[in-house]
Amino acid sequence: MSATADGAAGEPLLRTQELQKNFGGVKAVSEISFDVPMGAIFAVIGPNGAGKSTLINLISGVYRPDAGSLSFDGVDLSTMPAHLRVRFGIARTFQKIRLFRQLTALDNVIAGFHVHHKIPAWQYLVHGAAFTADRRRCRDQAMQLLEFVGMSGRAHVPAGSLSYGEQRMLELARALATKPRLLLIDEPAAGLNAAEVDGLLDRIRSLRHGGTTVILVEHNMDLVMNVADRIMVMEYGRRLFEGTPAEVQKNPAVIAAYLGGELL
Ligand SMILES: Nc1ncnc2c1ncn2[C@@H]1O[C@H](COP(=O)(O)OP(=O)(O)OP(=O)(O)O)[C@@H](O)[C@H]1O
Ligand SMILES: [Mg+2]
Repeated sequence: MSATADGAAGEPLLRTQELQKNFGGVKAVSEISFDVPMGAIFAVIGPNGAGKSTLINLISGVYRPDAGSLSFDGVDLSTMPAHLRVRFGIARTFQKIRLFRQLTALDNVIAGFHVHHKIPAWQYLVHGAAFTADRRRCRDQAMQLLEFVGMSGRAHVPAGSLSYGEQRMLELARALATKPRLLLIDEPAAGLNAAEVDGLLDRIRSLRHGGTTVILVEHNMDLVMNVADRIMVMEYGRRLFEGTPAEVQKNPAVIAAYLGGELL
């Protein structure tokens, strides 16, 4: 068990300090500091262009910060490449869906397992016994993940033929295949109908129940207010406010940023 898994050390699972990322003259993320406790659902909201996806890209390692630092389970992430962060327990979905469209739903999830394959690479070439066992293990676990996202009946359908909502759920299943301790989800409810949003809410709750910590970037306020433990509000790259859903909903600066309507 890690130093923080039982919460005894009181350290957050993720800590960012004064994070900064510029694109030319645009301060996409500016002096962003926050802690995400183990097991929390931490939402990030804000108007279009506020810097939410850039923040996810900094945590997942797509971008390096221009300044500031971030640590995960007490380990400095600043120079760790994205693929090592996945092995370390950080997984993500993308705002723009990225699936292998020609592959079946099942094979897309299996592709997500590659970071944890335990067999020697040569066995993939000669299809040794360990390869067969590993493939069976991956298939079984991938089917369980498809079941978790409500898609076991669609396992053999090419990803490109799935509905938009199904593709979003498949992205979630694929991210979960890496067994993340921290899951970053960027606008998972975009394009989902009301029933699909309800299903997503249940799944995020059961992930937390299973011990996964979640950072949720989302415009759907119903979802955010119902599922988040804490919410950080961003505007123009900066932190406008951070608090519980109830505190966010009555904060004057937040209400002003959303023109009063959407949050209430
Ligand atoms: N790769 C990039 N190159 C140049 N500018 C970028 C890049 N990525 C983001 N930006 C700019 O940085 C700012 C923050 O963008 P970001 O995508 O992080 O916002 P967001 O909060 O995710 O918005 P949305 O709600 O629309 O997804 C915007 O001004 C955007 O135009
Ligand atoms: Mg975005």
